[in-house]
Amino acid sequence: MSGQDPSLRELLSRAVPGSGEDLAGRVDLVGAGPGDPGLLTLHAVAALQRAEVVLHDRLIPQEVLDLAKPDAERVYVGKARARHHYKQEELNALMVARAREGHYVVRLKGGDPFVFGRGGEEAEALAAEGIPVRIIPGITAAGGCAAYAGIPLTHRDHAYRCQFVTAHRRNGGTELDWAALVQPQQTVVVYMGLHGLDKVCTEMVEAGAPSAMPAALVERGTLAAQRVVTGTLGDLPGRVAGLEIQSPALLIVGEVVRLRQAAGCEPVAGEGEADAGA
Ligand SMILES: C[S@@+](CC[C@H](N)C(=O)[O-])C[C@H]1O[C@@H](n2cnc3c(N)ncnc32)[C@H](O)[C@@H]1O
Repeated sequence: MSGQDPSLRELLSRAVPGSGEDLAGRVDLVGAGPGDPGLLTLHAVAALQRAEVVLHDRLIPQEVLDLAKPDAERVYVGKARARHHYKQEELNALMVARAREGHYVVRLKGGDPFVFGRGGEEAEALAAEGIPVRIIPGITAAGGCAAYAGIPLTHRDHAYRCQFVTAHRRNGGTELDWAALVQPQQTVVVYMGLHGLDKVCTEMVEAGAPSAMPAALVERGTLAAQRVVTGTLGDLPGRVAGLEIQSPALLIVGEVVRLRQAAGCEPVAGEGEADAGA
């Protein structure tokens, strides 16, 4: 990064990992944010620039991987739905092996490593093998998608609470605490809910949410291809049908969705957005 603004260079030199730090044999679990490279933290950039091995998820853009040194080993360890490239145990073993070889390993994860990202499990596995591990947080999909879609997750008049839930449980189940999800004055963000969208919307209505409750599906949030489909619990599945929405997608449910236009927020990523909603 020659020719860089000196104050930016200075900030990067003070980022974690520090420029004088001995990184041999350590693993950092680094959050890459939800997609837009502009959402990387300086710590994440510094870690990538110094990495000797980068083990990355599916949704990490090439420009982000290009921040690593040309000779850094890059391994795609992501998981497409129902098509696991690496089992979790294999990935853990690979991190341990590369660290034991004396490399500085960056495990680059979408969003934040500790939010539905198995970061806790990976940190436990590394610690159990005596490998030093640090967590570099990232912007969550919830934060990034909501901001780029112009939906405030909380609002003093509409939501004093926000719940993040996953529709995909370890055992493959999709049972959630529906009664907790339909409390008034809250926002619910459902991760990994694309394939269970129908079920989530139906169960929420059956548990007592108004079928007119606003809901939005954000596809490929923060990326140029972002699409936002808005509707209600009652009609969102029908609106989404036929649009060939791709993963990753995030469901946001709550009165705050109505504020999307009212808040007048412009999407940062802009051009690719096709608002398919009402
Ligand atoms: C395994 S979780 C990872 C979550 C991540 N660690 C975080 O902090 O946001 C993957 C799910 O996050 C959501 N997601 C991640 N990136 C997204 C994006 N750019 N747009 C929409 N949803 C996204 C989707 O629900 C996807 O199925």
